[in-house]
Amino acid sequence: MADPSSLSTTQAFYDAIAVDYAELFRTELDVKPVDRALLTAFAELARTADLGPVADLGSGPGHVTALLHSLGVDVFGVDLSSEMVAVARRLHPGLRFDQGSMTALDLADGSLGGVVSWYSLIHTPPELLPAVFAEFHRLLVPGGHLLTAFQVGDRPMHVEQPFGHPVSLDFHRLSPDQVEDLLRATGFIVNVRTVREPVSTEKTRQACLLAQKPAIS
Ligand SMILES: C[S@@+](CC[C@H](N)C(=O)[O-])C[C@H]1O[C@@H](n2cnc3c(N)ncnc32)[C@H](O)[C@@H]1O
Repeated sequence: MADPSSLSTTQAFYDAIAVDYAELFRTELDVKPVDRALLTAFAELARTADLGPVADLGSGPGHVTALLHSLGVDVFGVDLSSEMVAVARRLHPGLRFDQGSMTALDLADGSLGGVVSWYSLIHTPPELLPAVFAEFHRLLVPGGHLLTAFQVGDRPMHVEQPFGHPVSLDFHRLSPDQVEDLLRATGFIVNVRTVREPVSTEKTRQACLLAQKPAIS
């Protein structure tokens, strides 16, 4: 898939805010027990399947990567923003973080046992989601699991000058029905879908889908 022009805007946005973002969200999972439960369930599935490494795509400062690692998952992070990768490496020196885009990763077909996209699809223009899901499907080994979380809604939220930095970006809110349909159309089985009410500083309901590339029988 050709890199969309939105990538450079997204990269510049997260390069500018990486340090502040890491500080703000450092302990966010502490107040989100349902999210921890979903990530823990994914970790158990990935560990039990034992099909290969898990990639946390759009890993940001790496706290989800670190949680999965603490749960025994062979996991590494990938992020578009070199500053986010630098922050994640500094905060989690024992873990691997690479710079790259989930739209086209330099990884072989079927080389991943699992994919996590935790609030990182939200900067992909919705019309490009089928191509991103096709990339996840290509990367996963048959039987591999995909976990994705996103804000629910039908209009993007425009963020201007976060933490006082002179950048702005659209955050796409998504329809769980549409994401589920797209995943099925790509060839995934959707095993779990949750929608929960907002907690903490969240403004909208939050969705999570657990899908799987069919195993070869
Ligand atoms: C809202 S943050 C979420 C970070 C982390 N997953 C978390 O839950 O805190 C979105 C992250 O996705 C990254 N991102 C956005 N588009 C990406 C792409 N095409 N490939 C890789 N990372 C991307 C951004 O750089 C940013 O770090």
